[in-house]
Amino acid sequence: MRKIVIAIDGYSGCGKSSTAKAVAKKLGYTYIDSGAMYRAATLHFINKFTVLTNPKDIQQSLDSLEVEFHKNEDTGEQETYLNGLNVEKKIRSMEVSERVSEVSKIKEVRKELVSQQQKLGKHRGVVMDGRDIGTVVFPEAELKVFMTANLSVRAERRQKELLEKGQMVDLNQIIQNLSERDRIDSTRKESPLKKAPDAFEIDTSLLDFEEQVCEITALANRKI
Ligand code: C5P
Repeated sequence: MRKIVIAIDGYSGCGKSSTAKAVAKKLGYTYIDSGAMYRAATLHFINKFTVLTNPKDIQQSLDSLEVEFHKNEDTGEQETYLNGLNVEKKIRSMEVSERVSEVSKIKEVRKELVSQQQKLGKHRGVVMDGRDIGTVVFPEAELKVFMTANLSVRAERRQKELLEKGQMVDLNQIIQNLSERDRIDSTRKESPLKKAPDAFEIDTSLLDFEEQVCEITALANRKI
């Protein structure tokens, strides 16, 4: 059976990550959360600088940036490590969410992370979610999906997710953050968020989680 690349892009908070993770599990593929890599880079910069504009600082900082994924032996979940430290919880904080789209606009940051993502997927058999996976990272991906959902549905889902992780965040703050990230991600000069012409669009507003996963797995099975 041939191994393919499945690229899942879309707006913030559409449930891309949890869907991609479940699809990967069903197919026995590796799941790669490219957003976690941008979040880890953002945390790295927050730790080092208050303002990030000097290209020399950016390059120097990128040279000392190492993002890895390791499985948590207790939960079986994949977690993100920044320079050897588990940052899974920190990268999901509102502080990082509020700065990540600014960091993701930087050309040097994208160049470095896109190259790391291409290496991670070079043997195929991966499901990768993000904003530019089907357009820039793997334009030749065998299956491309573009996920959307209406803003209030996305915000409520995100609030529930944060609550499950012990973070109580006001719904309006989440709505503002999601729409601001969508705006920056879709209008930036470097690889803006857009649907690849050959991507299948799935609106998840009225779908439940299992339906989303089944729909994408069925599409994948047609390509394998
Ligand atoms: O997927 P997630 O919402 O965790 O991504 C966080 C942010 O990382 C996005 O809002 C976007 O600014 C950036 N990102 C990106 N390109 C990707 C994945 C994420 O620019 N491939």
